[in-house]
Amino acid sequence: MTTAAYLTGLLAPVPDEIDALDLPVSGSLPPELSGRYFRNGPNPLPGQDPGHWFTGHGMIHGIRLRDGRAEWYRNRWVRTPLLAGEGRFITDTGIDRTAVPANTHVVRHADRILALVENGLPYEMTPDLETVGPCDFGGRLTTAMTAHPKEDPLTGDLHFFGYGFAEPYLTYHRLSSAGELVESREIPVPGPTMMHDFAITRGHVIWLDLPVVFDVDFVGRGLPYRWDDGYGARLGVMPREGGPVRWFDVDPCYVFHVGNAHEDEHGRVVVDAVRYSPGAFATLWPRIGGSANPAAETGGAALHRWVLDPATGVAKDERLDDRAVEFPTINDARTGLTGRYVYAVADDAVVKYDTETGASLAHETGERSPGEAVFVPADGGGEDEGWLLSIVGSEHEAELRVLDASDLTAVASVRLPRRVPAGFHGSWIPDE
Ligand SMILES: [Fe+2]
Repeated sequence: MTTAAYLTGLLAPVPDEIDALDLPVSGSLPPELSGRYFRNGPNPLPGQDPGHWFTGHGMIHGIRLRDGRAEWYRNRWVRTPLLAGEGRFITDTGIDRTAVPANTHVVRHADRILALVENGLPYEMTPDLETVGPCDFGGRLTTAMTAHPKEDPLTGDLHFFGYGFAEPYLTYHRLSSAGELVESREIPVPGPTMMHDFAITRGHVIWLDLPVVFDVDFVGRGLPYRWDDGYGARLGVMPREGGPVRWFDVDPCYVFHVGNAHEDEHGRVVVDAVRYSPGAFATLWPRIGGSANPAAETGGAALHRWVLDPATGVAKDERLDDRAVEFPTINDARTGLTGRYVYAVADDAVVKYDTETGASLAHETGERSPGEAVFVPADGGGEDEGWLLSIVGSEHEAELRVLDASDLTAVASVRLPRRVPAGFHGSWIPDE
């Protein structure tokens, strides 16, 4: 029997939880970096094959930086019923939204650190990566929670959504800056799709209604979603204050991740995202455990810009760059606002895009691959003044690399005690 591709090489899980103190640092860690870098990703238990890369148990890797030192590294699984071999997502009486892998992202909002996966409830974690337990915001959250919530830098509110394969297919939610669930609104969509991300602007919420649909035939075999040429593809613009969604047809594609969105001076909505053509989705999806896709494989996904014009009802689609990338990030202080810079990672580089000039810059990582590059702002700095944190690694070793975000030069590297599997998303959690 061959081992699935998502259990080998850079994706191979680690077998256990470890701790290490006083990690070796080369270069000079900026003393302003006082806090924790947490990164989540799937890590099945030894001997387990979850059937799809996206369904392995969540494990968070944490690195504690303070005063120019790297005080510790530790990795911990999120303690879910599934990890303990208990619980089922689909039960005799409905859905258990605590029986989920909690493997996709880890964010802090208000006083809570939350491990997120899009088919279930968030799991609250301590700053030392112990699991507190599932969080439904006092019983108010009755749907799943996306792993890609968006914090509005102007209000501090956390906007998010939940999607599901049974109605309501899509529900919009908002947490106040104090972490209270203050709004939930059902959004009509034609059917159940895999909706991994969305966007906000100053006045709107932007939906991605794209042709990767739920298929009951795949339940119990990896992830029950497949490409559907018949579904169509549309982006939706919904007033935050309420009112119907205005849908814009786009060429069929898939988007896992949005970089950012904003409203321009003409009232148009501009969305920057990493777009998979049908062929690019066909290249990725079967490789990580998904069903085959009828399109011919064409390689990777690339950064695109859609401009949605309410005056004409037309969506303009422009490819901003040809390089195959994923995991777009920004200075989160620009979320929903006009921003100039988007960062992303290729197999062998961290890339910085200047969306104003069209220029891009790369920090090459050679034989090693970078994970998502998280932007940490310098106090009082401009949009790209700060650092990028990325776990850069191989099948044998890993480091936390710190880049100067303005020119992508490496300023420091923290050597981690062993390799870290390529995973998904993380956050910098600064000390208060
Ligand atoms: Fe994601």
